[in-house]
Amino acid sequence: MAEVRSSTETRETWTSNRGFIFAAIGSAVGLGNIWRFPGVAYESGGGAFLIPYLIALVTAGIPILFLDYSIGHRFRGSAPLSFRRMWRKSEALGWFQTALLFVISVYYAVIIAWSLSYFYFSFGNKWGDDPATFFTEDYLHAADPGVSSELVAGVAWPLVGVWVAIIAILALGIAKGIEKVNVIGLPLLVLGFSALVIRALTLPGASDGLNALFTPDWGALTDLNVWIAAYSQIFFSMSIAFGIMISYASFQRRKANMTSSGLVVGFANSSFEILAGIGVFSTLGFFAHEQGVTFDNLDGLTGPTLSFITFPAVISEMPGSAIFGALFFGSLAIAGFTSLISLVIGVSVAVQEKFGLSKEVAAVAVGIVAAAVSFGLFATTTGLVALDTVDQFANNIGIVVSAIAMCVIVVWIARTIDPLRRHLNMVSTFHVGKWWIPVIGVYAPIFLTVMLVQKVHDLIVNGYEGYPAWYIGVFGWGTIAFTIVFTAVFTLIGWGGRDDPDFRAWPDLDSPSTERRTEPKGANR
Ligand code: PHE
Repeated sequence: MAEVRSSTETRETWTSNRGFIFAAIGSAVGLGNIWRFPGVAYESGGGAFLIPYLIALVTAGIPILFLDYSIGHRFRGSAPLSFRRMWRKSEALGWFQTALLFVISVYYAVIIAWSLSYFYFSFGNKWGDDPATFFTEDYLHAADPGVSSELVAGVAWPLVGVWVAIIAILALGIAKGIEKVNVIGLPLLVLGFSALVIRALTLPGASDGLNALFTPDWGALTDLNVWIAAYSQIFFSMSIAFGIMISYASFQRRKANMTSSGLVVGFANSSFEILAGIGVFSTLGFFAHEQGVTFDNLDGLTGPTLSFITFPAVISEMPGSAIFGALFFGSLAIAGFTSLISLVIGVSVAVQEKFGLSKEVAAVAVGIVAAAVSFGLFATTTGLVALDTVDQFANNIGIVVSAIAMCVIVVWIARTIDPLRRHLNMVSTFHVGKWWIPVIGVYAPIFLTVMLVQKVHDLIVNGYEGYPAWYIGVFGWGTIAFTIVFTAVFTLIGWGGRDDPDFRAWPDLDSPSTERRTEPKGANR
């Protein structure tokens, strides 16, 4: 019998549902939870932010997570292959999502490298008494926006470690590599971070921080930007509409309770986010208390500044600071690392399937290219500004375009929403009602389009962070241009017969119930 070459025939699976859930939570819980959420919540109405946040979770987060799961689980491939099987022409969307993963992975890795350095610096408060100067000058040797080829040794060395580990884990595969790391890493993270939160809550002034975070500013609810911030946070944080959850679901066994797992993942991610908010703001409350100022007088509460300047400053003032610092930066590194794994595997599985490569070759090839870009653009003296700009454009424009396209294609063009709903309901215990269809087909695309228009308008009119226009052109809009070129190139390259012609989606939605519930023979496909 002729050998049928197909990527799905030998498709790996998670060893258990638990393995899948751990990996999915590992992807979701990342830098977005620890350093992005607390700052965004604080700036966007404090306690009142929880309302748009929860609405975004229910009206976009969970529904789109289910959509990702259903596509991956039914069509059993990375984003490009799954979309291709769903509707041939939508393969391009899969490559667009893959391009976003690539872009995010190359700078995300760098933040993990910083965290590793700071883990080390925690022992002995090596940042001294001016952490701001230490971070930008002594550590990063940061230069003005521009292009520099001067590598920063302190960043480059840990970054080598990060990429080598990523390539090795990816080459080990789904069960032996990714699942193992998450099954070990996640409990470690929860333990370490919980210890940090408990310590933070017992610091003097902690309650002032919590009041600052949770006291609602109801006026914020009428501000469109607050709603936009909530939706962006949900997308980034849950890793949805990036194609990753499509790939992860494709490694689930065919009989697997998808929606219940999705609810667990969504709940776990948001809980961790709120936990991080509590930990970070208690710590900041202590900082205000130590300085004898009110909370409103603190600044530097978002992004890199929060983690790498404000936090070190607080840690220095704390008794037992080395442990606290190590817990914080260690948590950042672990949470970031399990998310980075998912970012890179998303790219590597897509490439593996399209070119019929082994997982090892795909891991090494994708890992080396991504590492090279990561070093060249972000481990240099201009890395900080580049990272900030690329992040802004990939996350606020790229991902929103991806989500809109996905909803519109599934509901209005390929018209697979109802089959996908039936698929989920056949394999899962939590049934998705008909409400899902208008949410995905009408509400989400309309809201996301409003959000996109507002953001693009804002970036065009106001630029970003006062960076020079040429710089925004090259690194900001250039990022978008890169994703488009990447999409075109990978879509246009032929499959060369590598997509399994015998692929059959299962369960068969139209056959009598007994048949559709029997898995096809020999298949964990
Ligand atoms: N969800 C991750 C975080 O919160 C980031 C991420 C985005 C990971 C997209 C994978 C895909 O940091």
